[in-house]
Amino acid sequence: MLGEGDLVYLLDDRRKRHWLTIRNDMVNVQGLGVVDAGRLIGTEDGSSIKIAGREFFVFKGGIIEQMSSLDRGPQIITAKDAATIVFHLDLGAGDAVLEAGVGSGALTLALLHAVAPSGKVITVELREEFAQKARKNIERSGLASIWDLRFGDVKEVDIGSTVDAVVLDMPDPWLALDNIGRFLRPGGRFAGYVPNANQVADLMNGLRDRGYQELVALENIQRTIEVHAGGVRPSFENLGHTGYMVFGRRGIRR
Ligand SMILES: C[S@@+](CC[C@H](N)C(=O)[O-])C[C@H]1O[C@@H](n2cnc3c(N)ncnc32)[C@H](O)[C@@H]1O
Repeated sequence: MLGEGDLVYLLDDRRKRHWLTIRNDMVNVQGLGVVDAGRLIGTEDGSSIKIAGREFFVFKGGIIEQMSSLDRGPQIITAKDAATIVFHLDLGAGDAVLEAGVGSGALTLALLHAVAPSGKVITVELREEFAQKARKNIERSGLASIWDLRFGDVKEVDIGSTVDAVVLDMPDPWLALDNIGRFLRPGGRFAGYVPNANQVADLMNGLRDRGYQELVALENIQRTIEVHAGGVRPSFENLGHTGYMVFGRRGIRR
């Protein structure tokens, strides 16, 4: 049953999501106006409700819906790439991750979700103005208690602890490899996210030079399929290229 503090969305008949956090009060919902959120307390996830004569389905906001409804600043990592990153980093509850930079916090959300409830994500970000949006997005998710946001340059920051995984989404991640090597445990996993092929080469070479093993570079192409009465075909709105991912594991030569 849904209760106070749950982050939910009301799905309308045009598949538009209207977000709110449930509390026993009237709340302003973007696109709908003022709604009596107290009516949602005790309702079942997935049930329908009538508001001003219109039918909506009430769903708890999962990580995939949250990622696609963020308050956005710079280019975000979308769910298809975030899922691949989380899997290649082998993240699970209790893991510690170092991330840079925060952007809008889309990848941060996926990392937090993967390591919750006992892990932590340390995010290093250069620019405070980006972090404001990200902070709002993470606070909304309820995962902020395991998030440690720090301002600085990941090329020189001292995080003061070791981590199981590092992920860098920034223009020149190869320049941060010497510094992050001080914190990534042996056997730990690295992921880099870059939009251009020349950056893939610079990052791969940087990892190779520092003894990283199991190097893989890849790109995800995903197409949604539309099913209409007249036929079935890929959507015209599919994203083209998003970014390349580079993965590796920290090997120690003895
Ligand atoms: C493309 S955005 C990251 C988007 C983010 N992964 C997301 O999914 O929303 C790149 C971020 O890296 C930050 N950045 C760039 N160089 C950095 C550095 N040397 N140290 C820390 N952050 C850096 C930028 O300020 C920016 O916020």
